[in-house]
Amino acid sequence: MFQSACRRLLLQTPGRSATFLRVASSAVHRPNVPRTIGSTRFFSEAPKEEAKEVDPMAAVAAAQAEKLLAVKKQLWEIYLSTGRGANALFEAIDLDENGAVDPEDLKSFMIEVMGDEDPKEIMPYAWNRLEQRAAAGVQYDLRHFKKWLVAATKMSADMKNSRVMAYLMQNPEVGERFFNQLPHQGLHAFDDEEPANYTWNEETMSQSLRRMQYAVRGEVAMLADKLAAEGREILYTNIGNPHQVGQSPITYYRQVLALCDLPAECGVDHPKAHEMFPADVIARANEYRDIIGPSGTGAYTHSQGILGLRKHVAKFIEARDGYPSYPGDIFLTNGASAGIAMVLQGLMANNNDAVMIPIPQYPIYSALIAKLGGRQIGYNMDESLNWAVTREELDSKLAKAKKEGLEVKALAMINPGNPSGNLMTHCDIQTVAEFCAEHGIVLLADEVYQANVYGDSAQFVSAKKVALDARLRDLQLLYKLASSELCSGVVGQIMTSLMVKPPLPEDESYELFRKETTTIFEGMKERSRKLVEGLNKIEGISCVPAEAAMYAFPSIQVPPKAVERAKEMGTTPDNLYALSLLQETGICVVPASGFGQAKGRVGFRTTFLHPDTVKAVDLFAKHHEKFVKEYS
Ligand SMILES: Cc1ncc(COP(=O)(O)O)c(C=O)c1O
Repeated sequence: MFQSACRRLLLQTPGRSATFLRVASSAVHRPNVPRTIGSTRFFSEAPKEEAKEVDPMAAVAAAQAEKLLAVKKQLWEIYLSTGRGANALFEAIDLDENGAVDPEDLKSFMIEVMGDEDPKEIMPYAWNRLEQRAAAGVQYDLRHFKKWLVAATKMSADMKNSRVMAYLMQNPEVGERFFNQLPHQGLHAFDDEEPANYTWNEETMSQSLRRMQYAVRGEVAMLADKLAAEGREILYTNIGNPHQVGQSPITYYRQVLALCDLPAECGVDHPKAHEMFPADVIARANEYRDIIGPSGTGAYTHSQGILGLRKHVAKFIEARDGYPSYPGDIFLTNGASAGIAMVLQGLMANNNDAVMIPIPQYPIYSALIAKLGGRQIGYNMDESLNWAVTREELDSKLAKAKKEGLEVKALAMINPGNPSGNLMTHCDIQTVAEFCAEHGIVLLADEVYQANVYGDSAQFVSAKKVALDARLRDLQLLYKLASSELCSGVVGQIMTSLMVKPPLPEDESYELFRKETTTIFEGMKERSRKLVEGLNKIEGISCVPAEAAMYAFPSIQVPPKAVERAKEMGTTPDNLYALSLLQETGICVVPASGFGQAKGRVGFRTTFLHPDTVKAVDLFAKHHEKFVKEYS
């Protein structure tokens, strides 16, 4: 009871929980005194068996100390996950309530809460500052404590941030304003003591937003932009952005979109329209123009999207899954990202609301959860099982989350996988769907790559189809959110309809459409195979076949000296590897740590969109050999 009541207090009101912490801590010294907080009463009782063997007072004190440590760890965990509860943390260290924290107390607190991890390694720069203060015997008030917390919990190591700033400064193209252009700040005894110039700054901003990060556009991509600006040829494989790397737009889509946008007299009603556009394109554009109505593409639509277009989507889903689908249940959003953001916003009500996400994951999930101040629970996908997830793994992660007082609201499933490139089987999906159904967890199925399946016998199965068998519950909050955002872009809505309702074999555009889409698909299929085969031939690199989506996610073996060097640089071994790969070869990948991966694994994600992907295999091999030599 002690634990759960304490947790309740902790998770709901960080300020009050710290008050409780003080009470609990004084109970260590006077264990037989009942403690009251509000209406909650706690008795400090010695466990019976222990009381028989040892001094009961000592046993109670030990039990209390353990509980106290659990509370401290939770406060730290909450801050780490949500960016909230800095005041509570301060109060938890400032036990004599004099508004000042001794650096030595802060050091002991951090060592305690970080358990197996060494704060010196995790936060070298912030730890250094703390030691300087301790040596000088200068205490922290709340403001300086918060400043220190910001430094201690930067998502990226401080040295990495200074490297990023250096790239930006050398690259005026990005249009940044730099610190050295600001008025001189003066010298201070401690660099965390510089007066803040602005009321909105790194400490006062939303700490959830500060802690949000998106590796796909991280340090490696920034260095790539800098090198490109200097005239270096860069092979961008860091982002799934087909047109950026030369994929031609599909003619049919562009023609229909153009005719929807153009004034009728310049487009569908132009006397020479039939000389410029195939008849089915004109017919489709006219169909859309009728559906959209006289307001055209420039007006707000129904907040869920235009009904006629949602009907097309519902029909597609119905044909795909063999279950009814209703336009009223469809929400057309500005891409999947906006949809994910809406759903997560609707789900995250408290700091202790959590979402289970796959590890590795597409980082929009971790970024948005951080931004919304929620908690993420990673469930590991097993690389040795082609990135499948087991029921045991889901159960154990849920149990752990519950033990920590978290409420798991949703589970995100990415199929086909990004970054893993795997395709879930019917059976895999059923495992996840049943788990969600049993625990009343909302299943978020991210299926943006459903058309990109390359394995010869592989077939995409939607979570809806599987989940309907498992009778999952619906999410009802969405409409409220959607209506607050007016509507998604009309061009995107039309595009969605075009994707689910392509030209038919009897249509004039069909042949070109088929040729263009098949060329793209076959190119991806071939490159996915050749890239993975090529990577697997390199000694020290291994890659699970990319059956779907557009990514390969190899793991690499790096020498221990490279791990040491990364530590010295305040970065991860895969960031060091990716920076080196970029500098040596011009290939821009994303370090695997940006997606999450098993402890000790080192890897990267590369797309196989670029036509030169296969040629790049040689460069990957040469670089790997050089890198291993350099650090051996
Ligand atoms: C798995 C996954 N979900 C969602 C998105 C975002 O999609 P959109 O561009 O439609 O917002 C991406 C984009 O890369 C993705 O890989």
